[in-house]
Amino acid sequence: MAVGESEAGGAQPLSVEAPIRAAEVVGALSLATDLGTGQPLEHALRSAVLAVRLGELAGASTQELADTYYIALLHASGCTSNGHEATQLFGEDIEHRAAFFLIDTSNPAEVLAFYRAHVGAGRAPEVRDAMIENVIANAGGPRSRDSFATMCEVAQRFAGWLDLGPSIQAALEYVFARWDGRGFPGVRGDEIPFPMRLLHVGRDISLFLTAGGADEARSVVGRRTGSAYEPRLAELALANFDDLVADLDEARMWEQALEIEPFPKIWIAGERVDAAFMAIAALTGLKSPWLREHSTGVAELAEAAAWRMGLPDASVTLVRRAALAHDLGRIGVSNAIWEKPGPLGFGEWERVRLHPHFTERAFAQSPALAAIGLLAGSHHERLDGSGYHRGTRGPGLDQPARILAAADCYGAMCEARPHRPALEASAARAELLQEVDAGRLDADAVDAVLASAGHRVRQRPRELPAGLTQRELEVLLVLVRGESNQGIADDLGISAKTVGHHVQHVYEKAGVRSRAAATLWAFENDLVRPELAHTA
Ligand SMILES: [Fe+2]
Repeated sequence: MAVGESEAGGAQPLSVEAPIRAAEVVGALSLATDLGTGQPLEHALRSAVLAVRLGELAGASTQELADTYYIALLHASGCTSNGHEATQLFGEDIEHRAAFFLIDTSNPAEVLAFYRAHVGAGRAPEVRDAMIENVIANAGGPRSRDSFATMCEVAQRFAGWLDLGPSIQAALEYVFARWDGRGFPGVRGDEIPFPMRLLHVGRDISLFLTAGGADEARSVVGRRTGSAYEPRLAELALANFDDLVADLDEARMWEQALEIEPFPKIWIAGERVDAAFMAIAALTGLKSPWLREHSTGVAELAEAAAWRMGLPDASVTLVRRAALAHDLGRIGVSNAIWEKPGPLGFGEWERVRLHPHFTERAFAQSPALAAIGLLAGSHHERLDGSGYHRGTRGPGLDQPARILAAADCYGAMCEARPHRPALEASAARAELLQEVDAGRLDADAVDAVLASAGHRVRQRPRELPAGLTQRELEVLLVLVRGESNQGIADDLGISAKTVGHHVQHVYEKAGVRSRAAATLWAFENDLVRPELAHTA
């Protein structure tokens, strides 16, 4: 842990930026992965509370409790990374995961019932039967092992990016392991790290609290003692079940999970926060091959555009992080919708319209992150109120929101989607300018995004200060370069006498008596920005 980032250390953070709890960022990530795995929003948070409570009963060390906490929040973060492949097999990538988490994977009858219910969903019966047969023939083979390994490896890498420590990374390899060795990987007993053994019990209690209530959760732990779970831990959970699940408050699960983080609580700032948001962008990108570089690309454009528009440092940081996170909510919508090559139906569109809402809600619980979530969740809003999810109109959309909307729009147009190829940059530029003309996107934000993407931006008619005419502006822009009246005349293709009249009018309107003062006036009125001075 870096100096200044531990509550126990008590030192001041290295960055001037206020540090935030790592648990809040990882907690926000866990809300998204809950949505993407068909779980109620509090599942990962509740798993963390249960596993830490069980760890305290089992005499876990401080380090083991801290590891348990973070692997609980991160354990499903890799599960949405094979959404595309899962959709090929199951017809969707969310509901079957929720069902899979409930089955006893060592019980052939339960596994078979799961396959019959979910493999090939939506396909013709004969196709479906063949797919089910194929899955049964290859069950436990390299393909399924690869799938589990991938999900774990992704979670491990996120833990690495978040710099949470090697023991957390190592433990995340065993999300699907079982005490009896019949899981993935096929290790058994105490070859599985202790924090992960705690999580296996805590996670399943949480799953069955939702699926069947407290009695069902208690019954499952009893039935799977010694097979899925370490006997000592399962017996401890059964003996203290009422205490373990006491006071779990769905409405306060965020606060409860934040309160129970073991000491020393981890604080992050500066580049570590950026790394966390990169992990969020990567999680979004892994959801579908069509989205691989979308969030990072939009973040680059939006950040550059924010600089170009002169936003203060803190706002630029806000824009960058919101852009990295803007599509996190896509995880809560099935790839069956995102990857549909044809037009979407009404119900499908309603799901699509929810994704910025999901993004916003993932961060809404955290006081430190709510502003980022609010901005990120506005990326489909349009100035004329035709956007979603709120239908906010122009006055409600500030500069960061306008920049993010323009950057997302341009980024998406330049990427292929299942129902259309990628647009050429020039075509994307034209479409973006049409959105400006239609009153949906902000002209300045679009200019800044286009300029950041390497386009020359057009000169836009604008209301000029002091009643300056366009011709007088043209004269002024050459004047500030130090040209004589004759030079201005040559440059603009008009007579020197006419230039003299224009210069006089400019001086009168600007209230100046010299070229130098006219130049300063032009700067004061933002007339000599490069985008305006050198446009096509
Ligand atoms: Fe989006």
